[in-house]
Formats: sequence, C-alpha cells, structure tokens
Amino acid sequence: MRIAFCCTHTTAEPWVERLRAALPEAQIEAWVPGAPQADHAVVWTPPQQFIDEQPGLKTLFNTGAGVDALLRMRLPPSMTVVRLDDAGMAVQMAEFVCQALVRHMRELDLSESQMRQGQWSFRRPRLRVDFPVGILGMGVLGRRVAQAVAHFEFPVRGWSRTPQTMPGVECFHGPEGLDAFLSGTRVLVCLLPLTPQTEGILNRKTLGRLLPGGYLINVARGAHLVDEDLLALLDEDRLAGATLDVFRKEPLPEAHPFWRHPKLTLTPHTSARTLRDETIAQIVGKIRAMERGEPIAGVVDRGRGY
Ligand code: NAP
Ligand code: GLV
Repeated sequence: MRIAFCCTHTTAEPWVERLRAALPEAQIEAWVPGAPQADHAVVWTPPQQFIDEQPGLKTLFNTGAGVDALLRMRLPPSMTVVRLDDAGMAVQMAEFVCQALVRHMRELDLSESQMRQGQWSFRRPRLRVDFPVGILGMGVLGRRVAQAVAHFEFPVRGWSRTPQTMPGVECFHGPEGLDAFLSGTRVLVCLLPLTPQTEGILNRKTLGRLLPGGYLINVARGAHLVDEDLLALLDEDRLAGATLDVFRKEPLPEAHPFWRHPKLTLTPHTSARTLRDETIAQIVGKIRAMERGEPIAGVVDRGRGY
C-alpha cells in the first residue's frame, strides 16, 4: 500500500514519520510532483496538480472536519473523501464557544478594562435564562458544544438539515424551522459546513431575527457570514457584538474593518485545531478497517457537500 502526504501549511516530516511508525507495512511519502501513484492520501488543501497527477487515489483523508476547500477542486468521481471526525476537535470547540459565550454574557471585557483603570464596580447580574444559545449545525462539533453549553445551564436550541433530537436541547430543522429557531435565540453559534445552501446564511435577514442584544459566534467558515451585513447591524446597535474565528480571506487582510471594530473579538482560525497524534490514529484506524472490509465513519457525501 502506498500513501501520499500532501498538506499545505504543514511540515511533512513529523507526520510522515508517525504515519510510517503506525503503518509499517505501507510506503508513505510526502508528495512531490512526479511521485508514483498512491492508493490513499492524507491531505489538507492540496494543489490541483496533486489530484490531477494522482487519478488512481481511492481515498482522500482530510486532516480537518470541513471539506469545502477539497470539494471545490476537480476530483474524479471514484475518489472517496473522508473527513476528520472529532479527533480531539470537539472538546476544543466546546471550550472555545463556552469562553466566548461566558465572556460576553458576564461582561468580562468590561470588568477587566474597569479594573485596569482602578475602578471596582459591580454590574447588575445578567441571567442565563435571558441568553438562549442557538447552534446552527448539530453534527459532531455542534452536539458537543450544545452539551457543554447546557452544562452551564443556558437554554440551548439547535438547527440541522434533517430532524435531530438531543435531551435538553430544543431542536429545529430545515428552512421551515429556521425562523422559529432564530427568533428564540440570543447568542447564535455557527457550526455548519460550508455548502452552496449555507454560504451567506449569516446575513442581515437571519441575524436581524435574533432576540434583542443578539450576539454571533462564528467558528465554522468565513463565507457563512456576509461581512457588511454584520458591520451594519453592529453599527445600528441591532447586535451587541460577535466573536469571529474564521474569515472569507485568511489571514484577515490588513485593511479589513473587522480588525478595528470595538464590538468584535477576533481569533485566527484557532477554535479547534487539528491534533497530529489523534488525527493519525483516526486515519490509520480507518485504513485498517477498510482493509478488513468494514465500513468507516466520516465518508463525505459529495452531492450533499459534507
Ligand atoms: P458535521 O458533523 O458534518 O455536522 C454538520 C451539521 O450541519 C449537521 O447537523 C447537518 O445537519 C447541518 N447542516 C448541514 N447542511 C445544512 C443545511 N443546509 N441546513 C441545516 N443544517 C445543515 O460537521 P462538524 O464536524 O460538526 O463541523 C462543522 C464545521 O465546523 C466544519 O464543516 C468546518 O467548516 C467547521 N470547523 C471549524 C473549525 C475551526 O477551527 N474554526 C474546526 C473544525 C471544523 P444534519 O444533522 O441534518 O446532517
Ligand atoms: C478546520 O477548520 C477544520 O475544518 O477542521
């Protein structure tokens, strides 16, 4: 078995070394142009040249959960795309969303700036019942986030494409359920995959439906958000603020107004990082299961887009 490693923005050696240790029977190489045909590939945003030169690849193992960039490429229909299933990301996402939620709801930025100015002043307590959290996307990450937020006793609601259930979470689905979901949500968390159906879903109309004092946490993809609609709603005081971890163009261009907006908290696409050892263990486990002819989790439905 031959495995090609082709992950941009990643140093290949430690990955290749660990993959070789975990799969000693396989030939594993960092891809270079002209390399021999491989059976499987471990990838993150590979160049189109890689796909074009490797038409016989059976499986593309994505080292992230989102496959939007991969599905925008020209891929032969015979290639199976497999996403990363949690692999240590879900708990990171849960802690990130909880810190953004709690920081906003408890007005911690304000307390910190007042303390820096030598002011010891209390604010009236804000009640969690007034901060219903709505999670767009009830998949691997969304469900873990819902569980964590529910542990802090916030009211939680979730929205998905197909009907889902989760104890303690009010569930909505489909375009017909979106309005009711949004109109009872104050803090909106986006954990949708980026597909033609979800691109631009965070816009003036949808964000404008949130309860008064609405707050956005976008940890999915930058193209879910219509940037100018968010800026307008913030400036009109229709939204209290937002935490943004993902952007249409990354790194965020220097001249982008998000950088300097006082109601925004920005992080550099870091809410849930790919962890090397967990990722390799998961991919190797899947390769071994496939060899035994067993089904594996995380196979992407290319027609559906996730
Ligand atoms: P997932 O398991 O595939 O879950 C996707 C969820 O979105 C499902 O509940 C699905 O509904 C729902 N959905 C998809 N299309 C929809 C539509 N048109 N209308 C309503 N609901 C829709 O994905 P995941 O692993 O949770 O990851 C979600 C996304 O997070 C990734 O695609 C990626 O973009 C992003 N991400 C970001 C970071 C970061 O560091 N910022 C890290 C990892 C992932 P069904 O349940 O009905 O299928
Ligand atoms: C990161 O953004 C991922 O999709 O894993």
